[in-house]
Amino acid sequence: MSKEAKLELDGKVYSLPTLTGSEGEKAVDVSTLRATTNYITIDDGYGNTGSCASKVTFIDGDQGILRYRGIPIEELAEKSTFVETAYLIIYGELPNAVELKRFSDLLGTHQFLHEDMKYHFEGFPTGAHPMAILSSMINAASCFDEGLMKWQWGKMKQFDVYVAKLISQVRTIAAYSYRKSHGLPLIYPKQNYKYTENFLHMLFSMPYEDFQLKPEVVKALDLIFLLHADHEQNCSTSTVRMVASSQANLFASCAAGVCALWGPLHGGANQAVLEMLADIHNSGDDGSKFITASKDKNSGKKLMGFGHRVYKNHDPRATIIKKACDDVLAKLHITDPLLDIAKKLEEAALKDSYFVERKLYPNVDFYSGIIMRAIGIPVEMFTVIFAIGRMPGWIANYKEIMDEPKSRIYRPRQIYTGKTVNHYVDLEARK
Ligand code: COA
Repeated sequence: MSKEAKLELDGKVYSLPTLTGSEGEKAVDVSTLRATTNYITIDDGYGNTGSCASKVTFIDGDQGILRYRGIPIEELAEKSTFVETAYLIIYGELPNAVELKRFSDLLGTHQFLHEDMKYHFEGFPTGAHPMAILSSMINAASCFDEGLMKWQWGKMKQFDVYVAKLISQVRTIAAYSYRKSHGLPLIYPKQNYKYTENFLHMLFSMPYEDFQLKPEVVKALDLIFLLHADHEQNCSTSTVRMVASSQANLFASCAAGVCALWGPLHGGANQAVLEMLADIHNSGDDGSKFITASKDKNSGKKLMGFGHRVYKNHDPRATIIKKACDDVLAKLHITDPLLDIAKKLEEAALKDSYFVERKLYPNVDFYSGIIMRAIGIPVEMFTVIFAIGRMPGWIANYKEIMDEPKSRIYRPRQIYTGKTVNHYVDLEARK
């Protein structure tokens, strides 16, 4: 039997049920608190709030553990691919050979955008940020699909097709948004290329010459997608769930996730890391002056790529990606002064009491930017790559909330701290 928590308020004692997750995570269930006590809970930044029960991803931030559907991220990084992992995250099990082929075929069939969407791309100015284009175009894609326009919550017979469309088309839209923002001709996906190969092809080929795919580059980018594929209730995933709870369609909900991901404290951090390293390099600093500045709250500087709301020991994705970064740079024979600065910053921060006491360790964004720079991906595309990778996680969370018979619209409360009743004053009488 689960324990009960006791809450004493205004001289009365209330019993609150507790919940325990499959990994022993504990929660006090306050669902009935307002109805029984007229109090609500306040939790700035939601640091102590479980917004849902989920079966998708498990994180133990103190131990540095990340598992998708129970499988450790280290095993998936070593043995799986992004497409296979996407299936695992969305459908809950690793696919057998038939299921994997069907899923891959669906991705291939639905990778083309409606031709008329090209006119929408043309409306964006050269230099538009690809994240703005990405979120707009995912939403715009709804207008070209009758099923999305007439979305029936929980009753879409072809939900699998929409899943494949979104995973596949987000990659096509992402590549087009880069081509558009650089004024380059759009390149169509090829049927015989695998998921990540096709992305690189659409990004870098020219109508007169195909991009030469290097296996180490394909592998590194596929790994980056896989490592970003889900991360439980972060800012963008919670946004997707929030929008989904209103029963908005799958594309609209995930377009909202792209907007949430864009900020520098979330997915935008990988771009911010590279910009920070370039600034340090250009200023002639070896990183030591920057470390000092990042500890001073008045400097307006932070050590980007360090710290995490959940991981307080190490980010397991950072360990994997650091090794991949060393491997890919060695294979491509690249020496990068920014990587040298990154290593100095990491070494200095890990010994510095400011960072140690606050449990600030490198996160996944610290090294992913360096890999992407090494393989020629422009800095403004970094967060877009993160969005492509995160799509399976957003979809799995959407599916989870849609499949839950008792799901209801997300509607937090607030403590009002504004003026009490305050009457309307006519314009002439206002000071
Ligand atoms: N550089 C310098 N100081 C940092 C820091 C960083 N990257 N990250 C956190 N801190 C400091 C805070 O100023 C705060 O100091 P204080 O206790 O003296 O006030 C303390 O560490 C705790 O940080 P807090 O802001 O409460 O952590 P959070 O859980 O709210 O935020 C992040 C987590 C990720 C938003 C934050 O660490 C950050 O901004 N990191 C850089 C951006 C980044 O890499 N984001 C990608 C996340 S995957």
